[in-house]
Amino acid sequence: MLPGSPFLHRDAAGSLHLEALELNELASRFGTPLYVYSRSAMQAAVAAYQRALAGRQHLICYAMKANANLAVLQTFAQAGCGFDIVSGGELARVLAAGGSADKVVFSGVGKTRAEMAQALEAGVRCFNVESIPELAVLDEVARAHGVRAPVSLRVNPDVDPKTHPYISTGLKGNKFGIAHSEALVTYQRAAELQSLHITGIDCHIGSQITEVSPYQDALDRVLDLVEALEAQGLSIHHLDLGGGLGITYTDETPPTPEQLLAPLLARIDARGHSQREIVLEPGRSLVGNAGVMLTEVLFLKPGEQKSFCIVDAGMNDLMRPAMYEATMGIVACQTNTEKAKTAHTWDVVGPVCESGDWLGRDRDLAVAPGDRLAVLSAGAYGMSMASNYNARGRAAEVMVEGDQARLIRERESVSDLYRLEKRWD
Ligand code: LLP
Repeated sequence: MLPGSPFLHRDAAGSLHLEALELNELASRFGTPLYVYSRSAMQAAVAAYQRALAGRQHLICYAMKANANLAVLQTFAQAGCGFDIVSGGELARVLAAGGSADKVVFSGVGKTRAEMAQALEAGVRCFNVESIPELAVLDEVARAHGVRAPVSLRVNPDVDPKTHPYISTGLKGNKFGIAHSEALVTYQRAAELQSLHITGIDCHIGSQITEVSPYQDALDRVLDLVEALEAQGLSIHHLDLGGGLGITYTDETPPTPEQLLAPLLARIDARGHSQREIVLEPGRSLVGNAGVMLTEVLFLKPGEQKSFCIVDAGMNDLMRPAMYEATMGIVACQTNTEKAKTAHTWDVVGPVCESGDWLGRDRDLAVAPGDRLAVLSAGAYGMSMASNYNARGRAAEVMVEGDQARLIRERESVSDLYRLEKRWD
């Protein structure tokens, strides 16, 4: 059973396919390391959210930090999505991909004045503000532009999302958001600032969340605030519940968007807030299982304590295992029954000069040099976190739909890497 995507399957001859295309063949055609994404899987993932929100005023803002390739953004823009951005660079990408600024929410704890100005000029839908000093600076920048900045405060609800500490964001000890206890006074402060216009409230509690209960707790805390704010005469148009829904990497069983949203919407209705627009910021759950990363086996290095399967993709190409000790599925692109008899337990490692450079540990695989492996569920936080460490050009990216494959990002060449550098001559 392949975890994650119904668009990934193995045929009777043991060849792994994404949609109608053979991954081994794509690896030969485009080289490795290679990211391959299914366009249909992305569309299906958005459709699941849209079904779960049918009949409600809503906006799904794809958190593009998960995967910011222009073709990916374009796919979501065409599906009607907005975008959750965290930098001016991300805003430029949205516009280059054909997305519209009026569906953009701008998150992040460290927006610069220049980024605020850029976002005001583009006409973003909302700034998710994360501190009192940020409110004051945004007010100043908006005044200088002669406009009022639309603002929602990101509230830190102090709930435990029960995920990896590096990807928890809604606890008191995190740098994100405005403490729940300070939210009322901060909203009052925002209301006094002439160049701000309050439009909503926002929270995001973490990532790769596989349970509904942390969302329910966060929602209740947010609704408490909305009720208190409205009692003081402030009006809150939209509720932004953030992103964070997890995916299946190996054996996780996260709720579907429907299973997540049905109880949340029921709670919103029960507390009398049905009229509010719902904004969501999903990233991983829209793209994670739509993508794989292909890599070729270079050498096998059996050893007494550990055996290593050395591949041509490293931590610079896919950082999640090294950074979060994340477990991601790894399978052969082509299996064959003869070879299966010689299966062995390998640590799948890259060529980067770091002991932390691994993609998978203790994996049972029947492989030989020259074989291609697919790292599964690599569509989110794969390419978007890739680096050039060890002077390695970043991988190419391909998007498939049905039996069509298109190169959506060329492989970086080494001269690309030092193009901006100068010698001391
Ligand atoms: N909204 C905000 C304000 C966020 O900070 C994030 C993710 C999202 C939405 C989207 O969350 P998602 O639906 O993708 O869980 N690099 C890590 C994940 C970092 C997530 C950061 N914030 C990883 O590879 O697991």
